[in-house]
Amino acid sequence: MRTLLLAALLTATGVAGAVAQTYPTKPITIVVPFAAGGPSDAMARILGDRMKATLGQTFVIENATGAGGSIGVGRAVRAAPDGYTVSFGHLGTHVANQAIYPLPYDMLTDLDPVVLLPSNPMVVVSRNSLPAKSLQELIAWLKANPDKATAGTAGAGSGSHIGGVYMQNLTGLRLQFVPYRGTGPALTDLVAGQIDIIVDQASNSMQQIRTGNIRPYAITDRKRLSAAPDIPTVDEAGLPGFYMTLWNGLWVPKGTPKEAITRLNAAVVEALGDPAVKQRLVDLGLEIPERDQLTPEALAVWHKAEAAKWWPIIKAANIKPE
Ligand code: MLT
Repeated sequence: MRTLLLAALLTATGVAGAVAQTYPTKPITIVVPFAAGGPSDAMARILGDRMKATLGQTFVIENATGAGGSIGVGRAVRAAPDGYTVSFGHLGTHVANQAIYPLPYDMLTDLDPVVLLPSNPMVVVSRNSLPAKSLQELIAWLKANPDKATAGTAGAGSGSHIGGVYMQNLTGLRLQFVPYRGTGPALTDLVAGQIDIIVDQASNSMQQIRTGNIRPYAITDRKRLSAAPDIPTVDEAGLPGFYMTLWNGLWVPKGTPKEAITRLNAAVVEALGDPAVKQRLVDLGLEIPERDQLTPEALAVWHKAEAAKWWPIIKAANIKPE
């Protein structure tokens, strides 16, 4: 019996040791629950490229879309807990959706935290042809077109949808939400004038704002964005209190070896410390968390607190799954 126990112990420590020494031995997949070209996809690709330098393996981005991101998260939850599948997500996909969709998984217990990622406020943007030059004029125009004015989203529960519902609740607007597989394709339609507005992540709209292809009205934060100092805050633009910051994170399937989580975390921390990567992210309007917030434990605490805060709000908003 003792020999068996010893053998098992040696095997376990052997496996853990082997993982610690050799992980990763093959490419790692990051499951992004939204379409390519959007803000989640962009951040996953920027980080994946830099993490390759640290871990010596390629990071493959898999865009598994639908149902406000809950399809992609489910794909990651069901994956083997071996360190080779990572779930990319945010406030919408890893908090809000649990209060909207009858999910076959539990976000707080079926995934293990790896690291909190950069966050960004939302920006209210419209097609250029919309006859409004300020947030007040935009709200007046939207109110004059109830149930007709269209707002692009990445599906019920996504960041752009929560932002839209929040704006509706604060202003009494009635928007017609148009779901896309991500705000990447939604933005393409906004530039083309096919939809009226998006309450979008600043990082997604930044380029089109800079090239003047869409019109920004306000940043959902108390302070202006250093990447776009000309855009007023919601307080300055006359919709005080419409604050919303979309945070992001990485998780792995529950039971993934601790050593793999430690190495993935270290690779992200190194990437976020890289001046070139930092500059790219900040230029997009993203804010990098403080160093002490970049541990798996810190994400676990933050995730739980955000769930406790947002679930009652989302449930009260009575948001229906698509
Ligand atoms: C995306 O990458 O498309 C976004 O994260 C979608 C959203 O939540 O609005």
